[in-house]
Amino acid sequence: MSVFTGAVRPVLFRLGGGDPEKAHEFTLARLAALGARSRALLHRRYAVQAPVEAFGVRFPNAVGLAAGMDKNGVALPAWPALGFGFVEVGTVTARAQPGNDRPRLFRLRDSEAVINRMGFNNAGAAALASRLEALGPVGVPLGISLGKSKVTPLEEAVEDYLTSYNLLHGYADYIAVNVSSPNTPGLRTLQDKAAIGALLGALVGRVPVLVKIAPDLTDEAVAELLEVCLARGAAGVIATNTTLARDGLAETDRPRAAEAGGLSGRPLTARAREVVRFVHTETGGRLPIIGVGGIAEPDDAARMLDAGASLVQLYTGFIYRGPDLVKGAARACARALP
Ligand SMILES: Cc1cc2nc3c(=O)[nH]c(=O)nc-3n(C[C@H](O)[C@H](O)[C@H](O)COP(=O)(O)O)c2cc1C
Repeated sequence: MSVFTGAVRPVLFRLGGGDPEKAHEFTLARLAALGARSRALLHRRYAVQAPVEAFGVRFPNAVGLAAGMDKNGVALPAWPALGFGFVEVGTVTARAQPGNDRPRLFRLRDSEAVINRMGFNNAGAAALASRLEALGPVGVPLGISLGKSKVTPLEEAVEDYLTSYNLLHGYADYIAVNVSSPNTPGLRTLQDKAAIGALLGALVGRVPVLVKIAPDLTDEAVAELLEVCLARGAAGVIATNTTLARDGLAETDRPRAAEAGGLSGRPLTARAREVVRFVHTETGGRLPIIGVGGIAEPDDAARMLDAGASLVQLYTGFIYRGPDLVKGAARACARALP
């Protein structure tokens, strides 16, 4: 048992009467408040140097923080100290928005899973731009995830993404186009051929643009989307977002499964890897892939690379396993790389 699972996690999971969002807010605030000396100590303990290159960007190691953990980039300097080789902030939207009503985040502990229906709660693209301007370089590559503001009709989605893109692309090593969150009504229809074509047509150009896809698409829909990504010059694919499926849950977590939202963590491992393998095969390796979904132990990260990913990201695994998983995954990736 690690210090994290034995001592830190039990405290975090009891915070706010067991409210996961309270634990999240507390953790972010503590990480944001870390001083340079603490960060240096953590960095010495957790950071693994195993450089990789993908879509023209050099990464100190292959393991990134997935979108949604630090939506507004409030704790940015802490993530490289915890071992992450890159960080994806956001998803941000052109307009600041509160997200869905609470509760909207649920732990399914025996399944090492989470259900969330946050709904893109974020301070908006302009606020993130100001923060990044004040902060300066983070030390590791920075991805910025963009989504559609809830109040913007789907027909005006392109302009909405473009507003955020114009404010933020200058700070990003890559832009992630999030068209796969299940928690903004209609958003996933932007994965359709015509819609994603229009979006990429407007955004591709100055920095690498990657498309984040849902694990619930059929092979046929993924294949269509990939055709558009290749034709429109997308730099890669992030696979996958959370799932609407409820397979693979422990019996004890079944009552929680009825909560609306996207499921992440262990129950997603196999499906996310399957999508990564499909994308890799279908494109003949021409589109770099960031593999994300259910990486709960180091070996899962290596298997994502085996399936065709160039990089991986963690979210739910980090909640349950902490920074030991980041380090273990980075080492496992280093061993798996040619
Ligand atoms: C609470 C929560 C919030 C999330 N918010 C976002 C988000 O804003 N944008 C996004 O692209 N993905 C978001 N995700 C999805 C993760 O980035 C990741 O794709 C998904 O959780 C699968 O990885 P995991 O099993 O390692 O968690 C969120 C996930 C969780 C659990």
